[in-house]
Amino acid sequence: MSLKDFFIELSENQFLNNNAKKYGLKLGAQSVVAGTSIPEVIESIKELNALGISCTVDNLGEFVYDKAEATAAKEQILAVIDAIHESGVDAHISLKPSQLGLDIEYDFCFNNLKEIVALADTYDIFVNFDMENYDRLQPSFDLLKELSQDHDNIGTVIQAYFFRAEEDIEKFKNYRLRIVKGAYKEPSHVAYQTKEEINQNYIQLLEYHLLNGKFTSIATHDHNVINHIKQFIKDNNIPHNKYEFQMLYGFRRDMQVALAKEGYNFCTYVPFGQDWYGYFMRRLAERPQNMELIVKQVFNK
Ligand code: FDA
Repeated sequence: MSLKDFFIELSENQFLNNNAKKYGLKLGAQSVVAGTSIPEVIESIKELNALGISCTVDNLGEFVYDKAEATAAKEQILAVIDAIHESGVDAHISLKPSQLGLDIEYDFCFNNLKEIVALADTYDIFVNFDMENYDRLQPSFDLLKELSQDHDNIGTVIQAYFFRAEEDIEKFKNYRLRIVKGAYKEPSHVAYQTKEEINQNYIQLLEYHLLNGKFTSIATHDHNVINHIKQFIKDNNIPHNKYEFQMLYGFRRDMQVALAKEGYNFCTYVPFGQDWYGYFMRRLAERPQNMELIVKQVFNK
């Protein structure tokens, strides 16, 4: 088993996920998770805003199989939206449908999302539906489509490793889209497996949406992709208000600040909350060198 598969399996382990919640931020997670409470995350956002960086806030949590837990997550996200509005910070919401009941019942999840999207809409706050693994892809698109009949403050993610990504981006080109490589382990009948194939499709999708789409969030830490896309944007005169770069909180911070200073719109994905374990393990799966973060954290104590 590769190191990547090992960390992805750990990220999906229900027992470890549940236990991690009880013990606060551990294993160095505090360097990539902006606290466990709403006041803490608002403070982190203010610091990033002061550097010219906007934020998308993720109340950590996924794969919820209990209605009470999904309802509690909904209440917490509603409270985050109120806090963003009241504090006046430059931030929007990212959420995972499986935290809000997608695996329990479609209509239950729909109603939770509807409440969130409607409140955010009253404050003109955008809500991004993060994309999870393949089984949850189509129902998440269905939820997005249904909710967009009444609200236009929503968008989603296209994962470049999926064969169907090209078709999906065409269908959803009138939405604000975040384009990523893809973070889950997917089988070879639905997804590209090699870095080369994924990178190639990633660039193609980014270029397509930059030229044809509503708004593109270029979400990557890959400097080669970023340099290529900067040149593409210049060559094609893509206006600044049609795109932004995105990276995760705690990763390549110098590059985040540098891009914002160069005048690019930049948005940091800011996760917070108790449910940090699965998120953190996926970051280790993507790049085992992220273990450096753990080591630094342990020795800086
Ligand atoms: P990748 O891991 O492919 O690395 C490419 C190269 O970049 C490396 O070889 C290295 O040279 C450099 N590099 C990368 N990270 C570095 C670091 N920390 N320090 C130094 N060099 C580094 N996925 C998903 O399935 N659904 C989703 O909704 C989202 N949402 C999302 C939001 C945001 C804002 C981001 C940035 C990412 C996601 N993802 C995601 C995760 C995404 O699919 C992908 O798994 C990760 O971004 C890793 O791929 P990268 O393109 O960042 O670099």
